[in-house]
Amino acid sequence: MRHYSIALIPGDGIGVDVIREGKKVLDTLCELDGGISIEYKHFDWSCEYYLKHGKMMPDDGLDILKDFDSIYLGAVGYPGVPDHVSLWGLLLPIRRQFQQYINIRPVKLLRGIQSPLANRGVDDLNFTVIRENNEGEYSSIGGRMYEGTDMDMAIQNSVFTRYGTERVLKYAFDLANQGTEKFLTAATKSNGINHTMPFWDEYVRKINMDYPEVKTDIVHIDALSSFFVTKPDVFDVVVASNLFGDILTDLGAAIVGGMGIAPSANINPEKKFPSMFEPVHGSAPDIAGKGIANPTAAIWCASMMLDHFGESNLSAIMMDSLQDVLEEGIVTPDLGGKATTEEFGEEVCKKMRSKF
Ligand code: NAI
Ligand code: MG
Repeated sequence: MRHYSIALIPGDGIGVDVIREGKKVLDTLCELDGGISIEYKHFDWSCEYYLKHGKMMPDDGLDILKDFDSIYLGAVGYPGVPDHVSLWGLLLPIRRQFQQYINIRPVKLLRGIQSPLANRGVDDLNFTVIRENNEGEYSSIGGRMYEGTDMDMAIQNSVFTRYGTERVLKYAFDLANQGTEKFLTAATKSNGINHTMPFWDEYVRKINMDYPEVKTDIVHIDALSSFFVTKPDVFDVVVASNLFGDILTDLGAAIVGGMGIAPSANINPEKKFPSMFEPVHGSAPDIAGKGIANPTAAIWCASMMLDHFGESNLSAIMMDSLQDVLEEGIVTPDLGGKATTEEFGEEVCKKMRSKF
């Protein structure tokens, strides 16, 4: 029996609904396969938890999580708790302490989903964005001075280290090198940001020397964003710093069908710490409690988790079943259908059963 342990952190709003379906799909798959067992532990860490305890997770939260094989997270953030509190109180500490320095975000059009880009199909939209997840523009270095006066000011510094830059680039080059296209696009802005971005570009060229078969293009982030819309078919692997990757991947999510679909994986490639799998979307207070959130992103995350465990056969069955259901048009309201979150999850389970 292959055994895995997963820490479940559904979080806030629709996070709870979509993780419930993701877990159901995982459970069904384990039952069907018979050779894999997953043990879950549920944590109620969230904004609700914050309102009761004054923190997003207990002080020893990271210590509690560190021995799990992975973390499966819904979304955190809710009106009443400032977003920087929920983010810096839970998500960012997990990403950083567990050295989840790789954020994988596939930009892949699933079967059955219509891209908002005219005349683009599954063959045109199929690439991966690797976002640096531990440093860059999202650093806590800086400060605020003279608040409340005419001289009010704020400074936030970007942090680009050789260590952090090389390891994310190596991961991206490795990924590109394993594929058939062997094409890497690196996001930059070395014309406007004249210290960190030329540094980034320099390491792109340096690491590229270890991957002579990979063709590389270094593109300014503003132009690159427009190319996501005008020529998405050219991309294979795209690597970006933390902020650029964050923004690019929301655009990536939009061109493959929207927030209800986009998954992400925060990976510690060395597997020294657990990796974390979470939909790109947030807690969606506007539809929370209505039972209509699209669980596609959460289910896709579960399949990425299986890939990370080395269970690629099972992951493929899950993705195949998911796409069959989407193709049949049994979809949630964000995709123009009438299915509830729960009905959609059920349909995916039903499809998987038909494949065993
Ligand atoms: P959001 O992703 O929660 O919602 C944006 C829009 O997309 C809303 O109209 C929502 O209804 C829709 N949407 C999102 N996921 C959907 C799904 N699965 N099915 C159907 N429709 C879906 O982003 P927003 O409104 O900016 O943030 C809401 C809260 O979530 C904030 O507190 C924010 O800080 C937090 N957040 C948390 C994230 C995380 O935990 N990783 C990521 C993004 C936001
Ligand atoms: Mg984002």
